[in-house]
Amino acid sequence: MMGAGASMIAVDAAAPQSQETPEERAARMQWWHEARFGMFIHWGLYSVLARHEWAMELEGIPVAEYEQLAKRFTPKPNSARAWAKLAKAAGQKYMVMTTKHHEGFCQWNTKLTNYCAPKQACGRDLVHEFVEAAHAEGMRVGFYYSLMDWHHPDGAKCATDEAARRRFVDYTHGLVNELCSNYGKLDVLWYDVHWPLDAAGWESEKMNAMVRQLQPGIIINNRSGIPEDFDTPEQHIQASKDHAWEACMTMNDSWGYQRADDDWKSSKTIARNLITCARGGGNYLLNIGPKADGSIPQPSIDTLTAVGKWLHKNGEAIYTAEPCKVHSSAFAGFTRKGNTLYIHVHFWPGETVAVGGLTVKVNSARLLANGAKVRVVQEPFRTRFEGLPAVAPDSPVTTIVAECDAEPDQNTLAIRENRPRRGVGVDF
Ligand code: GLC
Repeated sequence: MMGAGASMIAVDAAAPQSQETPEERAARMQWWHEARFGMFIHWGLYSVLARHEWAMELEGIPVAEYEQLAKRFTPKPNSARAWAKLAKAAGQKYMVMTTKHHEGFCQWNTKLTNYCAPKQACGRDLVHEFVEAAHAEGMRVGFYYSLMDWHHPDGAKCATDEAARRRFVDYTHGLVNELCSNYGKLDVLWYDVHWPLDAAGWESEKMNAMVRQLQPGIIINNRSGIPEDFDTPEQHIQASKDHAWEACMTMNDSWGYQRADDDWKSSKTIARNLITCARGGGNYLLNIGPKADGSIPQPSIDTLTAVGKWLHKNGEAIYTAEPCKVHSSAFAGFTRKGNTLYIHVHFWPGETVAVGGLTVKVNSARLLANGAKVRVVQEPFRTRFEGLPAVAPDSPVTTIVAECDAEPDQNTLAIRENRPRRGVGVDF
């Protein structure tokens, strides 16, 4: 943990990186795959402005003017404890906080710049507070780190001036080294925007070799210009073919706190997104943008609490779900584990829930939330789950568990092609 003498740890950059087998990688990433659901936290000087984390660039704010925000960023001590408690209540298993966003302000006690929380009005190491809070609730810890830097003198010049690039890359590797050296075990490193350099320019291979030496077992995302451990579809859900993936999304439209952004997603939308991620074998990293004082916007608290209540009862359909071939319904999403199909009904149709084109036999069914048995009637093209309550028994989604005799699959085209038509000339 960050002590008075904290600093960088020298790493032999020339040390060969051990070649990992697919099995070793799977073992290293097992906790992450099972976690499924994480909390992203965007918090920095932009939280004071409360006008989106890109305000500095999008409004063209001069650096000298923007820096003044560091005098007003004085969050309440240990704000992260409430975030971690909320993450736990929401059923999230890991937390990723912005240690430095594009604005360049470092949230930790760095030796490499004075533009950091402990040396400005805040006076405290916010990364240290975050790590302690996360661990206290049993959360795995991730650091977001933006390579792009709008504050550092070499942040743009590095693209055209080799001396500037050298300085800036040394600075960057130094900051990443501190983050990996001074806060105990780190589970995820989440790079962002590598403008204006490519992986060669950032010396990403060397940087990530250093990271892995300092933090064996760490999981690294794909935004330092090399694929590393997982892909990061942003604001949409897109399963990768042969690579682990995590969809990151906001709860309204902004990552950083934006006072006027009232475009909140419902708990139903959030639950559906989580189900979609689980169906495709991916993770869902869902953002909160705390205010400058560290408090969480109320709509985020309400929604995460509601989703957590649902997950508490229905988590087995999410956390250890395997990729699922069943996909098609106008009112439900699907996940799978072995031969068990989970039907997540978000628009409740009433007493009967019908799924077309299932190609397996359903041996039995029940409601996941309370275990109540559900009657199953299977026809050639339709499986009906009958005798259900008229009003959805769970919220925001009701999950029906169908135990099948093989891995659940669905063929809806077969319905269109093969469902017997009326004979020619026969009127109905
Ligand atoms: C984008 C944005 C940034 C945000 C990130 C999260 O890259 O530039 O503001 O932090 O997405 O994925």
